[in-house]
Amino acid sequence: MIDFEKIPSPAYILEEDLLRKNLSLIRSVKERAGVDIILAFKAFALWKAFPIIKEYIQYSTASSPWEAQLAWEEMGSKAHTYSPAYIEKDFPVIKACSSHITFNSLSQFHRFYPETFDNHSISCGLRINPEYSEVETDLYNPAAPGSRLGMVREELGDHLPEGVEGLHFHTLCESSSYALENTLQRVEAKFGDLLPKVKWLNMGGGHLMTRKDYDVEHLIRLLQNFKKKYPNLEIILEPGAAFVWQTGVLLASVVDIVHNKGIQTAILDISFTCHTPDCLEMPYKPVIRGAYQEPVPGKPTYRLGGNSCLSGDFIGDWSFDQELKTGDRLVFEDMIHYTIVKTTMFNGIPHPCLCLWKKDDSLEIYRNFTYEDYKTRMS
Ligand SMILES: Cc1ncc(COP(=O)(O)O)c(C=O)c1O
Repeated sequence: MIDFEKIPSPAYILEEDLLRKNLSLIRSVKERAGVDIILAFKAFALWKAFPIIKEYIQYSTASSPWEAQLAWEEMGSKAHTYSPAYIEKDFPVIKACSSHITFNSLSQFHRFYPETFDNHSISCGLRINPEYSEVETDLYNPAAPGSRLGMVREELGDHLPEGVEGLHFHTLCESSSYALENTLQRVEAKFGDLLPKVKWLNMGGGHLMTRKDYDVEHLIRLLQNFKKKYPNLEIILEPGAAFVWQTGVLLASVVDIVHNKGIQTAILDISFTCHTPDCLEMPYKPVIRGAYQEPVPGKPTYRLGGNSCLSGDFIGDWSFDQELKTGDRLVFEDMIHYTIVKTTMFNGIPHPCLCLWKKDDSLEIYRNFTYEDYKTRMS
């Protein structure tokens, strides 16, 4: 159990025990289903924790030159890379740090594929768009009409160009194995004739196999059956959030309480727009340890405000058993995926430190941020 008194506020705190629990489950799915499962850096790239990850999972997926470089430097393996568009000056790094390169369009494939000829260990693929997704929020729906991500069948045409060894689709987000099953049916309906002609199929991310209600046995059966049908295919899954789902928290403190026409706001030493942007973008209301998720009549109730000048930098409302006061600490649950990778230093707000709560109940502070970090980003 984390001893919050030992930790400076604000802080993101990754819990080693919980991380290992997720990693064990992911490794067992990989082994039992006979597929590759790799870590998507876009959700989690806290590389000081990679030594723990590597004990279970050795490969990762990158979506940019810097993520690919991080894979090579800190995972010690080459990345499966996909980017909506590669840029000439970045391609040498992509090439040097990738084992698989997926292209989003035929024009990108034809432009860059010849550049891979001098490196025979790179396998090239194309991203396809099955035009089916059960994701309801458009911001996270790569199969929404008009999407720029992946080729619809008419764009791809009847034949795969020479040199294409794999296909990639990504249409899930925090999804179940049943959503994957429905998606695979659509993939087969639209692209089934091409599956026997390639060596690998990357099923993207969004497989939330570490969520309590996820039907892991169904996923394993589904993947095993798919493999039987297409024995030529190496199957790759690249979830991000599932690796670090519910493996840590964001610790924040109350700095002031303000009132305006019956609404009381506790202003915190974090900012939602800077430190938990998905709460505003998705949007969703995070769970606070020990608080009532919905207002309870008769109990002290607060909107929580970020410490930036953005008017919309607040979320509401939670109730508490006691009045909040300056110095009180709040623990936001499940704040490790899509947080640290997305933070900004907007308004020059001090960045939460990055910590690991180790399995022997000691604290390792990976990083404390300073004014210099803010200043050097703009120099
Ligand atoms: C191409 C691709 N792969 C993998 C992922 C990881 O998805 P998740 O973190 O939901 O598992 C994403 C997320 O956006 C993605 O765009």
